[in-house]
Amino acid sequence: PNVTFILPDESEVTVEALAGDSLMQTAVDNGIEEITADCGGCCSCATCHCFITPAWQGKVSPADDMEQALLETAIEDVQPNSRLSCQITLDDSLDGLVVKVPQSDW
Ligand code: FES
Repeated sequence: PNVTFILPDESEVTVEALAGDSLMQTAVDNGIEEITADCGGCCSCATCHCFITPAWQGKVSPADDMEQALLETAIEDVQPNSRLSCQITLDDSLDGLVVKVPQSDW
């Protein structure tokens, strides 16, 4: 699946992801520096925060309780479309996914 990251400076990077990889892993593998993913994907750091663009909001499965709780405690500007990218597994149903990467506060 292809994934497009919109960076804080509004530039867009489209990359080819491997099905089964997390969105976070895809970002890290492609040098998206804002996603530092300090905890390595175990849903405990929130440094992999991103925003799902409106067109994709209904297609990406919603955050589970643990992710939602971490988002609300760790992210200052948490939005309804906030997600932790390590908790999103990519597959062909998400081909073309577009996410916005916030400026990192870390
Ligand atoms: Fe740490 Fe996602 S990589 S919460």
